[in-house]
Amino acid sequence: MERRGSLYGVAAAAAVVVVVAMAAAAGGEAARLSPEHYRSTCPGVESVVRSVVARKVKETFVTVPATLRLFFHDCFVEGCDASVMIASRGNDAEKDSPDNLSLAGDGFDTVVRAKAAVEKKCPGVVSCADILAIAARDVVAMSSGPRWTVELGRLDGLVSKSGGVAGKLPGPDMRVKDLAAIFAKNNLTVLDMVALSGAHTVGFAHCTRFAGRLYGRVGGGVDPSYDPAYARQLMAACPRDVAPTIAVNMDPITPAAFDNAYYANLAGGLGLFTSDQELYTDAASRPAVTGFAKNQTLFFEAFKEAMVKLGRVGVKSGKHGEIRRDCTAFN
Ligand code: HEM
Repeated sequence: MERRGSLYGVAAAAAVVVVVAMAAAAGGEAARLSPEHYRSTCPGVESVVRSVVARKVKETFVTVPATLRLFFHDCFVEGCDASVMIASRGNDAEKDSPDNLSLAGDGFDTVVRAKAAVEKKCPGVVSCADILAIAARDVVAMSSGPRWTVELGRLDGLVSKSGGVAGKLPGPDMRVKDLAAIFAKNNLTVLDMVALSGAHTVGFAHCTRFAGRLYGRVGGGVDPSYDPAYARQLMAACPRDVAPTIAVNMDPITPAAFDNAYYANLAGGLGLFTSDQELYTDAASRPAVTGFAKNQTLFFEAFKEAMVKLGRVGVKSGKHGEIRRDCTAFN
């Protein structure tokens, strides 16, 4: 009895060690994050970032979707650690992976500019990962979306590999079950996923990302879940031989406003990707879609909460990270 007991004890102790080691390896304890993280070391950081972002959004609205998507793609691969910012001579960093090639340059530029301004004020103190988290909040707030308190204290990661991206980001042809599995790996629920997908209320998509729904179906014909008039509009904008650089608004109704139109669009067959439209088709996600379509406040509250949760994914601490001097290169 006693011997068995001690064996269990060893097993339990080993399990604790494994759990602690895993948490340390992921570097991911949300408890380390705090809105007050830079209170004494760089109290003005948020206003410095905000003024850079405001200037950049004034230059081009593309800044809004580009920065928001950059944050999402950063967090889902290696955690929110600015690993997506790394530029490599060999083109083998995260940003060089096929899934990241369509990330718009204005998102990267926003972070680089904000970092330069922050470094002038408090050199060597604020991580690129935190600057990206603040900028992602600011672009939403600046396009009539909600504003939330950003938790801070992330370190910048030490790993950025193109080969590490495959399978970690959702694809536009995925259905809810597979999408939900990817979000679940990042501690995000179906409700979080539906709320975050509302980011598709702003920004652009290249024709190639949804052409399969227009032209590529077995047996021919347009995907019947498209509203027919919308499908005709998309075919006019994206003919079969369209150049790969051509893109359309993802929210055809209010493309430059962060609002809940995306959800009403889904109910009307105006979901651009299968992954959008399926949120309405699938019974697991449909109640959230209809709820957000009816009530923008409900959407904003869920989006805020989900963005804070997204910002906690795989946060680095201790020897697993650093404060980069240049966001595009390891120190
Ligand atoms: C649910 C699964 C998702 C899928 C399958 C997906 C897929 C895509 C694809 C294929 C594009 C078009 C890229 C292009 O052609 O250039 C896109 C654009 C975009 N996505 Fe998502 N996305 C998802 C979730 C999210 C989330 C969670 C966010 C942010 C919170 C987000 C933010 C954006 C933004 C803002 C754009 C526009 C980018 C721009 O205009 O530069 N997406 N997404």
